[in-house]
Amino acid sequence: MAQTVPSKIGSTQQARSPAETLLSIRNLRTAVSQGEDRFDIVRDLSLDIFPNEIVCLVGESGCGKSITALSVMRLLPTPPVRAIGGEIQFKENDLLTLSDKEMRKVRAEDIAMVFQDPLTSLDPVFSVGSVMTEVIKAHRDLDTNTARTMALEALQEVGLPDPEKRLDSYPHQMSGGMRQRVLIATALVLDPDLLIADEPTTALDVTVQAQILEMLLEEQRQRHMSILLITHDLAVVAGVADRVAVMYAGEIVEQAPVDELFEDPKHPYTQGLLHALPHISVKREKLIPIPGVVPPPQMMPPGCRFAPRCPYALSRCWQERPELEINAGRPLRCFNPQPFVA
Ligand SMILES: Nc1ncnc2c1ncn2[C@@H]1O[C@H](COP(=O)(O)OP(=O)(O)OP(=O)(O)O)[C@@H](O)[C@H]1O
Ligand code: SF4
Ligand SMILES: [Mg+2]
Repeated sequence: MAQTVPSKIGSTQQARSPAETLLSIRNLRTAVSQGEDRFDIVRDLSLDIFPNEIVCLVGESGCGKSITALSVMRLLPTPPVRAIGGEIQFKENDLLTLSDKEMRKVRAEDIAMVFQDPLTSLDPVFSVGSVMTEVIKAHRDLDTNTARTMALEALQEVGLPDPEKRLDSYPHQMSGGMRQRVLIATALVLDPDLLIADEPTTALDVTVQAQILEMLLEEQRQRHMSILLITHDLAVVAGVADRVAVMYAGEIVEQAPVDELFEDPKHPYTQGLLHALPHISVKREKLIPIPGVVPPPQMMPPGCRFAPRCPYALSRCWQERPELEINAGRPLRCFNPQPFVA
């Protein structure tokens, strides 16, 4: 798998000023209600995305990656899940304070999202062409023929084979890879500034996965858009990311440019993820899995949320919560970072 994804490690990183930020999430808090109780799923999450860059949000299953994305899109399953604090600044607006109508416009024109499962994201009773022309006509003052031509061009651009025929196809008549290309074409047809892609290739086989990632990279280069790519797969991260935010149990624990993170991961959780990655661990006899699992929101430990799984936990880690602080030039949430031994 690691060999089949395009290589981006080693790409030059440029320093950016905060004024350039496209999306700025500050202290986001998203919680789930259960009766009288409320539990944080995402806690105190801050993340910037700059124009024309690919940021990967990475972490194990249940870390809160999708809930973070759905908080940005204002598509949370409310109730019981609700964003209850923080700001999500996009251009001049705090998305959390926009009206539903204003937010629909943002979702159509500024920030698009591609979901993990291409089959359940497409309505089985509508053809590809009818869905795409409706999306275009809802937001552009265009007749059906012009919208259909626009849809066809978008399908051509994402490399869908036989795009003219596919305009009249239904989801069940296409492979998983074709359906994912259709979803990406639909997301890109109105030329968003930011694409949020939540595990867009997880359901696909390795070869198709590499093709879709290559296509996404090409689209990003041509359109100069930004991508927030959500994945649990560090091999994918190595192939596509400019910067990486590592998420554990609802919190960002480390952030760094991709080459720095892979060369010198500082958080014990990031180190654990890398030790479990086949091509990093090739020098070892076997992979080293991180013991234990991500705790559910209802059972978070009081201090550092990673303490029960951390080989370097100190007694203070069980009582005090580490803040995300700049440590050796990067945001890090840890009292006791250790040098990485590959
Ligand atoms: N509708 C919901 N109601 C209650 N809890 C939820 C709901 N959706 C998500 N959660 C909980 O929030 C936590 C984070 O879920 P989320 O789907 O964001 O994880 P994830 O990092 O995207 O995982 P995966 O890699 O499996 O997609 C999990 O503990 C999950 O059980
Ligand atoms: S704060 Fe302590 S428990 Fe948490 S990751 Fe760092 S060393 Fe491990
Ligand atoms: Mg998810």
